[in-house]
Amino acid sequence: MSTSRRGFLKGILGTGAAGAAATALPGCAPDIDPAPVTDVTASEAGTVDLLVTRYPDLEPVGGAITLRVPGEPTPLLVAHTKGGGARDDFSVVSSICTHVGCPLGYDGKDVVCPCHLSRFSPTTGAVLEKPATVPLKTYVAEYNPGTKVLRIDLRAGQAGFPAAVNGQVVLPLLDFPELRNNGSSVTGIPSGYGKRIFVFRLEDGTLSAVDAICTHQQCEVEYRQQETDLFCPCHASTFTRTGEVTKAPATLPLKKFTVTETADAVVVSGVS
Ligand code: FES
Ligand code: FES
Repeated sequence: MSTSRRGFLKGILGTGAAGAAATALPGCAPDIDPAPVTDVTASEAGTVDLLVTRYPDLEPVGGAITLRVPGEPTPLLVAHTKGGGARDDFSVVSSICTHVGCPLGYDGKDVVCPCHLSRFSPTTGAVLEKPATVPLKTYVAEYNPGTKVLRIDLRAGQAGFPAAVNGQVVLPLLDFPELRNNGSSVTGIPSGYGKRIFVFRLEDGTLSAVDAICTHQQCEVEYRQQETDLFCPCHASTFTRTGEVTKAPATLPLKKFTVTETADAVVVSGVS
């Protein structure tokens, strides 16, 4: 591995994780480097505007950059996937490989992991080649060919799921009647927050709400109804429905939200 690639890994992952990723790099890794890193800040509304002509690594078709945004769980890989004036198009996905956490690059066609050669679709995040098995998170982005500004919305939500307003998500029981039942669950991505949350009515009737971002390497956990736990598909950590770790490699609990209820709604607070 080149000195520059080792230095890059340190920059993006920190010294400890860079060591692990560097150890993982095979001698025959292709000449794909992680995309160059740029630090940006998001607006209060959770958007990032990139004037594409300011980023020489992104401006040509096939180019890509890695964006570090304070408060985001992982850096973002922005790839220039199509070209031709008004037909320019860009894709934005998480830039950390779901296999063992290496930073990703773009070869002009696929998102590629230099460590063990997993490939992902830049548009859907789907795994195209193993060893990774878990897709990348995708982000909503819109390019304005007139201004040449790419706007990335970090807090886009899921249609039909209530938005986070002033840090609160209100789930009316009329729309989510299952939350009346003990042992039930609801999940969705509130716009204004942009990350999945889980809300549970436990068997004893109490409520719990947690964030879906695994505290190991920021994959998204899934609810397993049969096991009544939250399972991370990346490296098999498990958590209780109240967010406590029950199986490593994660060591920290999931982010927990405050949950209250009124006569006709469940209210999740602290969603910001
Ligand atoms: S870290 Fe192993 S394929 Fe990406
Ligand atoms: S990201 Fe590694 S266990 Fe979840």
